[in-house]
Amino acid sequence: MMKNSLPGNCCMLTLPKIADSRGDLTFIEGGKHISFEVKRVYYLYNMPENTERGGHAHRALKQLVIAMSGSFDVVLRDGVHSSTVTLNRPDVGLVIDNLVWRELKNFSSNATCVVLASDYYNESDYFRDYGDFLKEVNNR
Ligand code: TYD
Repeated sequence: MMKNSLPGNCCMLTLPKIADSRGDLTFIEGGKHISFEVKRVYYLYNMPENTERGGHAHRALKQLVIAMSGSFDVVLRDGVHSSTVTLNRPDVGLVIDNLVWRELKNFSSNATCVVLASDYYNESDYFRDYGDFLKEVNNR
């Protein structure tokens, strides 16, 4: 996993790619290419123009976000630093750690966003209010 200067412990992750004359194949093994076991996969698609998604952080959940097709931007905030990452390749993902606020925007018309998550859906794991999120990270 490549370390960089993204907020929180977020990082870009280059995934394996097997390329031959038939096309490309990428795979992801939980606990190996990513630090967590995958308990859930979900995807965002059919986004109307100018859609913004996300707008929340998680107490414990870790995620790997991939632009399986098209492109979009992810704004990351850890309460001190913010950074915008453009995802536009199926073989490069963004690991979003817990306690990082994210906003997804600028989806291209054909964008599909696939997310691998460390746990099942649990609404009580969300911070949906930015003020509540800031209070939590500032108290740590
Ligand atoms: P939300 O997390 O707000 O979407 P995003 O962050 O992509 O904008 O989720 C939208 C709705 O879908 C919300 O009612 C919760 C529900 N949901 C599930 O039921 N299961 C899931 O795995 C996810 C991610 C969301």
